[in-house]
Amino acid sequence: MISIISDLEAIAKLESGELEMQMEKFNLYNLVEDVFDLQEVRAKNRKVVLRYGKSMDKNTLVNADKQRIFQVLSNLVVNAIHYGFEGGHVTVSFYDMDKVILVQVRDTGVGISQSELPRIFERFYRVDKSRSREQGGTGLGLAIVKHIIEAHGQTINVNSSPGKGTSFTFTLEKAK
Ligand SMILES: Nc1ncnc2c1ncn2[C@@H]1O[C@H](COP(=O)(O)OP(=O)(O)O)[C@@H](O)[C@H]1O
Ligand SMILES: [Mg+2]
Repeated sequence: MISIISDLEAIAKLESGELEMQMEKFNLYNLVEDVFDLQEVRAKNRKVVLRYGKSMDKNTLVNADKQRIFQVLSNLVVNAIHYGFEGGHVTVSFYDMDKVILVQVRDTGVGISQSELPRIFERFYRVDKSRSREQGGTGLGLAIVKHIIEAHGQTINVNSSPGKGTSFTFTLEKAK
């Protein structure tokens, strides 16, 4: 209950543009390390391995609201663990796209059907109510994630193959 209320508060503020992003330059790789550290036990319990993409630049610097991007990454990684298959993995990768860094969170899990994909960023939308409820989310996570990325003037996309896995990609402003 408390988490639903605070999630709804966050969405209301993000929608009204009331929440200003606190932009700073930070090391994105270190932030992913922090997220992985915090989710390690959850991942172990679900027999999911958290890993970094190949040849990732450990010195990837971005300009963004560090706390809120931490929230974005945590939400995506937690979903990837919850909706991932046992024995599978969650991979976070970065791609240098000149002006922006493309961040990808990929899982090997149940996936999302083509018909559901357009709706998953809606508040309270959950694909499989019974299964999702077991995992105890509020259905607000992705709505918050999308709002935060858009408040940065950036974009988020999703691709999925049902039965194989899902990949979320978003952009962040590159810093030097
Ligand atoms: N990585 C994923 N793989 C499969 N389905 C997902 C994934 N992430 C999100 N979903 C689907 O999108 C719905 C909305 O996600 P979210 O807003 O985080 O809500 P919650 O996790 O609280 O249910 C989930 O209920 C789930 O059905
Ligand atoms: Mg969630």
